[in-house]
Amino acid sequence: MTSLTTAGTFPLGHRSVNRLGYGAMQLAGPGVFGPPRDRDAALAVLRQAVASGVNHIDTSDFYGPHVTNQIIREALHPYPDDLVIVTKVGAVRGADASWNPAMAPAELTRAVHDNLRNLGLDVLDVVNLRIMGQVHGPSEGSIEAPLTVLAELQRQGLIRHLGLSNATSAQLKQGRGIAEIVCVQNNYNLVHRDDDALIDELTGLGIAYVPFFPLGGFTPLQSTALSDVATSLGATPMQVALAWLLHRAPNILLIPGTSSPDHLRENLGAGQLALPGAALARLNAIGKAGHLG
Ligand SMILES: NC(=O)c1ccc[n+]([C@@H]2O[C@H](COP(=O)([O-])OP(=O)(O)OC[C@H]3O[C@@H](n4cnc5c(N)ncnc54)[C@H](OP(=O)(O)O)[C@@H]3O)[C@@H](O)[C@H]2O)c1
Repeated sequence: MTSLTTAGTFPLGHRSVNRLGYGAMQLAGPGVFGPPRDRDAALAVLRQAVASGVNHIDTSDFYGPHVTNQIIREALHPYPDDLVIVTKVGAVRGADASWNPAMAPAELTRAVHDNLRNLGLDVLDVVNLRIMGQVHGPSEGSIEAPLTVLAELQRQGLIRHLGLSNATSAQLKQGRGIAEIVCVQNNYNLVHRDDDALIDELTGLGIAYVPFFPLGGFTPLQSTALSDVATSLGATPMQVALAWLLHRAPNILLIPGTSSPDHLRENLGAGQLALPGAALARLNAIGKAGHLG
């Protein structure tokens, strides 16, 4: 049994995917802008992920922009039958690498076609509406107009399944009245736990929750308690952070991002890590304390 199968599976749209997946954002250049420093290395990481059993890759055409999707296509097309590629729309990049809302009907439609073209697909498996009310965290506000545009593109056969990103519970409720929502992708990790109630709600609904920044994102997690637990288990802090998320709820699907083959191997190894009760108690206290203790 491999590390991935040990971690189990959860439904994502009409497929069941391994709970340990891969986030492709780190494959673009610095600041998720422009080409990577080493394109061959980026291709190799993607091929290694799939060869290791990853069948869930998260991306967007606004990574690069276009660059990450083009690298995914070059590395993996024609895609394995069981691979689910999840993308997101709702933003565009400025020439200065800024992240700007792009939720108007024409912008969303263009983004879907950009994803199809750059990934080399006729239909996108899952498209998340990346809600841009506040760029860095969820904020209330109607999503009816943009989600209706995506639901129409789904009806036209360009999208199989829809999800939400950077969403609140109220937006999830509104969204489910417009279309079936198969996943929610929000910022959540061992330290940043604003979504605890939303995760419990999604567990009850049987909808996948996909934390972005599972390792802390641009500032990888650092915590004495996390390091202590990792040392006691003979694991690395990042493996413990991922194992904690796997333990947190059965509907959590992981998409840790890396541009490094060694980090990829390490992250996928988290599936085999069991967390004893004392370790869990220490890790749970990190978020409750609200600091990196
Ligand atoms: N919906 C959204 O708004 C949104 C926002 C952000 C991200 N995402 C998605 O979520 C995915 C995951 O987020 P993320 O990539 O930003 O952050 P992340 O997975 O929390 O962390 C990635 C960072 O951790 C480093 N790292 C990875 N594995 C490591 C290891 N074993 N040891 C030490 N450092 C390690 C990476 O550097 P190396 O490359 O050196 O390994 C990178 O700097 C993204 O790839 C993207 O697909 C979505």
